[in-house]
Amino acid sequence: MKAVVYQEPFKVSVESVADPKISHPNDAIVRITSSCICGSDLHMYEGRTAAQPGIVFGHENMGIIEEVGPAVKDRKVGDRVVMPFNVACGFCKNCLNGFTAFCTVVNPGFAGGAYGYVAMGPWVGGQAEYMQVPFADFNCLPLPPGTEHEADYALLADIFPTGYHGAELAGVKPGETVAVFGAGPVGLMAAYSSLLRGASEVCVVDHVKERLDKAEEIGAVPINYDEGNPVDQVKERRSGDGVDKGIDAVGYQATSAGSSAVGGEQDEVPNVVLNQLIELVNPTGALGIPGLYVPSDPGGVDENAARGALLINFGRLFEKGLRLGTGQCNVKQYNAHLRDLITAGRAKPDFVVSHEVSLDEAPAAYEKFDRREDGYTKVILHP
Ligand SMILES: NC(=O)c1ccc[n+]([C@@H]2O[C@H](COP(=O)([O-])OP(=O)(O)OC[C@H]3O[C@@H](n4cnc5c(N)ncnc54)[C@H](O)[C@@H]3O)[C@@H](O)[C@H]2O)c1
Ligand SMILES: [Zn+2]
Ligand SMILES: [Zn+2]
Repeated sequence: MKAVVYQEPFKVSVESVADPKISHPNDAIVRITSSCICGSDLHMYEGRTAAQPGIVFGHENMGIIEEVGPAVKDRKVGDRVVMPFNVACGFCKNCLNGFTAFCTVVNPGFAGGAYGYVAMGPWVGGQAEYMQVPFADFNCLPLPPGTEHEADYALLADIFPTGYHGAELAGVKPGETVAVFGAGPVGLMAAYSSLLRGASEVCVVDHVKERLDKAEEIGAVPINYDEGNPVDQVKERRSGDGVDKGIDAVGYQATSAGSSAVGGEQDEVPNVVLNQLIELVNPTGALGIPGLYVPSDPGGVDENAARGALLINFGRLFEKGLRLGTGQCNVKQYNAHLRDLITAGRAKPDFVVSHEVSLDEAPAAYEKFDRREDGYTKVILHP
């Protein structure tokens, strides 16, 4: 089958690879109808992780079940399903507690597995024609049959739940004010989720115009950090007040004002968003941090950043009594409810999707998405 294969930094190609097989009675094989490119893929694409050439990318996958192993009970051939990016067993201690992003079974020696991702286990990615899904009853979320809401449902694999997770980690409540840093797909979903949860005002900080426009479209307030310190800008419009809750949807590849925003450049300031959120969130507030931070970064801007050690103002955080929550999203905590909001017409997250292309167009799409140019915000590949 055809698949998107990582070759070297800034290069993927569409190659012929082995077809996936049922290797355990709990497996299913899914024919992929939609697989999204994620900001998380770009960390690998830019050579900012330990990913080796040959890895098939793709952790945001949706499709039709083609084949099931003899132990799969509830999922059937022909079912339309979306898979959380987390691969999870459903029965380890962490899965039983709902923390499916920290499954201890699917990636031995580590807590957490994912498809097509470095260090996340042997699971081959779904930017391909077919994909093997282990523990298929647990890992396939059933969807209404047909083709309706394809893009909305595809976002249930990662970014809609992850944005919602950001709001959950920050504990966003009705009437509260929220600042979201990053208007990438995750930031836009965090802003959208905060509004769904009843936030009274959501400010979204970025410097990519098309992305800030999307934030404004959904009723958030766009703040361009190239036009001045975003903390001051938010406080100015709020007559000096900060916000109740903050969400970091940028992560360790944060850049400073005026930079080109392409990863790997020297204007990267990995701690800038964390420190700005500590300044901006009011005392007793909370920070949700779905943006990715890594314990080892081959392209880190200095020795400390290379081992994930960042200088953050912990004294100020303590003084203000702020709480913070971090980590990969436990997609299964949210995906069924968010699916039902989509089905009922109460949520329409596909406003974030900018491009839908074939698998063969993946190399060009990666290049453009990486440069955040031509309005590339979220790309869905249709194998
Ligand atoms: N926790 C999880 O489970 C999970 C899941 C998916 C993605 N992620 C992570 O979330 C982050 C965002 O993902 P994405 O797909 O939206 O990525 P993205 O790279 O498309 O978006 C990041 C955005 O941040 C903006 N940005 C850069 N520096 C900034 C700054 N100083 N202030 C404000 N904005 C700034 C960029 O311009 C860009 O638009 C990534 O780190 C990704 O790895 C985490
Ligand atoms: Zn993703
Ligand atoms: Zn588990």
